[in-house]
Amino acid sequence: MPHTPRKILVTSALPYANGSIHLGHMLEHIQTDIWVRFQRMRGHEIYYVCADDAHGTPIMLKAKAEGVTPEALIERFKAEHQRDFDDFAIQFDNYHTTHSEENRLLAEYIFKRLDDGGHIVKRTISQAFDPEEGIFLPDRFIKGECPRCGAPDQYGDSCEVCGATYSPADLINPYSAISGATPIEKDTEHYFVSLGNFSEMLHQWTSGNHIQNEVRNKLKEWFDSGLRDWDISRDAPYFGFTIPGETEKYFYVWLDAPIGYFASFRNLCDREGLDFDAFCQAGSNAEMYHFIGKDILYFHTLFWPAMLRGAGFRAPSAVYAHGFLTVNGQKMSKSRGTFISARAYLDHLDPDYLRYYFAAKLNEHVEDLDLNLDDFQQRVNSDLVGKVVNIASRSAGFINKRFDNRLASSLDDAALFDAFASAAETIASYYEKRQYSRAIRAIAELADRANQYVNDRAPWLMAKDENPGEELHRVCSQGVNLFRTLMIYLAPVVPLLTARAEVFLKSPIAERSGWHAAGTPLLDHEVGPFKHLMSRIDAKAVDAVIEASKEKPAATDTKSTTVKKSGSTMNDTSSQATRPVTVVPAESEQNPTISIDDFAKIDLRIALISDANYIEGADKLLQLTLDIGDETRNVFAGIRSAYEPESLKGRFVVMVANLAPRKMRFGVSEGMVLAAGPGGEDIWLISPDSGAKPGMRVK
Ligand code: 2FM
Ligand code: ZN
Repeated sequence: MPHTPRKILVTSALPYANGSIHLGHMLEHIQTDIWVRFQRMRGHEIYYVCADDAHGTPIMLKAKAEGVTPEALIERFKAEHQRDFDDFAIQFDNYHTTHSEENRLLAEYIFKRLDDGGHIVKRTISQAFDPEEGIFLPDRFIKGECPRCGAPDQYGDSCEVCGATYSPADLINPYSAISGATPIEKDTEHYFVSLGNFSEMLHQWTSGNHIQNEVRNKLKEWFDSGLRDWDISRDAPYFGFTIPGETEKYFYVWLDAPIGYFASFRNLCDREGLDFDAFCQAGSNAEMYHFIGKDILYFHTLFWPAMLRGAGFRAPSAVYAHGFLTVNGQKMSKSRGTFISARAYLDHLDPDYLRYYFAAKLNEHVEDLDLNLDDFQQRVNSDLVGKVVNIASRSAGFINKRFDNRLASSLDDAALFDAFASAAETIASYYEKRQYSRAIRAIAELADRANQYVNDRAPWLMAKDENPGEELHRVCSQGVNLFRTLMIYLAPVVPLLTARAEVFLKSPIAERSGWHAAGTPLLDHEVGPFKHLMSRIDAKAVDAVIEASKEKPAATDTKSTTVKKSGSTMNDTSSQATRPVTVVPAESEQNPTISIDDFAKIDLRIALISDANYIEGADKLLQLTLDIGDETRNVFAGIRSAYEPESLKGRFVVMVANLAPRKMRFGVSEGMVLAAGPGGEDIWLISPDSGAKPGMRVK
């Protein structure tokens, strides 16, 4: 299959340098790595680069809370991230950081080109400012009461309780999530990219084959609502690059994040003498692909192509978005132990298991993927270990023992081998199109045929004969060769198993042999001693991962744990722009202290939940009837995501009985029940010990 090698540059989204890698990240990196490994086997010139996304307010604040410099923080996370990716066999050609000299130079260059082209404008805007911290507050750092339902502690853009969306200025009693101070409005000059200048180019680019069909509809909505100027500057204090000519203004993290793809590649080119321009300049005939999650499409399909065009670079060949990861059909949950870090997984399980499972379920669409832990064990054990690996173990022993480790010089069933070999291009086309689940299905069908063959020929019966001769030799050599072909097809997915198979076969399978090796059997060839290649997943190991991932309720601190908005991504620390952020202020900054007199003003009572109901039209609230001895109270509590009404009836809780009644959409709420937790299903009602009676005051 002669072909002209393609030049390809591939990226996965850059993880933020303030949180650990988890299985949500791994879904994307495994998807990308499989594609890259496949292309390498096809003989293309391909480079896979990534980096840590090291800038922005959350990183600055986290470093401050830890009492370290941002540089020290990002260095620590980068090292951790690289170890995790490495142990998952993600084979980057380079892993860099956006806080690098290459990135500074490229960001400045792109900014200058945009400015020279008349695409940068300055405008004075009014922004919320924390007068105590002396810092402008991004929307997600302003909290307050929801203007619609009155729920307290809501973020500046939407209400977790009633789902209302609004702007921070609409919040009642707003406060800074950093210091608790009341924000003031302050004028400041910002830099903007005039996105509208790129309207024609973006329309054209997005109507081509550069995006998935389902993304095209989303983009149409964005176009229809108008391409607004993009705010690309942030005021000091900030952790990032200062804008040329400024001392107190920085590039917004999302300006230099995608440029980080180029910076990482530049760093690789400088180290290995590669031609950066050949891949990145306008008119380049190389291909460039970005694998991303669906939540960051806007940045990659509008801002990034516009920046590239404005600065004279090529546009991406395609942006490939995937959906979010769920575990057991639900969003990841710390209380259930399904918010699994890469390390917690690696401590107990082989990375190839997860790579195989993801591959078996991944396709080219922007669909969410569920890691169902029972299905995970079942599929890996029965298909990968039970079918593929089993073929080798059923044939190899005889080759080792009876034929002095040597494969026969001809096969028992050449036609069957040819049928396996001729699947190469079909399977390749599935990988090429990111239809991994189809590739895995096709491979599993071949594995069934191989097992059928071994069953039919029953080498163990032939082996009963003292002198079985060439037939047994050819049959077992056939088995080993069918196994090898399957391993060639699976090599992009399970690199560690592939490496062990290579040792047994004494023959390269993956990159060094190439995809075309599937067409030629190993004949009259010496193999190594067969060793067990892969064990079945032990259910205990899965339990251990879950146990290690469980957050103990006692450690929950509602102030330092992110309350997630959509809940569909498991990443609670990595988001800066599109998702909620984790703010961990230093202890003393979390809450101003209150005097004992202040505390005494709170009338805390033991309450019995005498009734609990769903409320029509409310996705977050439950209606509770609370018995506090001499009276009953009606309370709307934002705990629907964590509790079923039925399970609450008859339960004792602690309530604030003297909270001013609040009128809400569904009626008047006459108090508040105490609960702790980060939100979603991770909410724990606080209950008294047994013996408490309704109405008792908490002392
Ligand atoms: O959403 C995120 O996690 C970002 N750190 C992704 C950045 S990708 C690229 F644009 F840098
Ligand atoms: Zn609300």
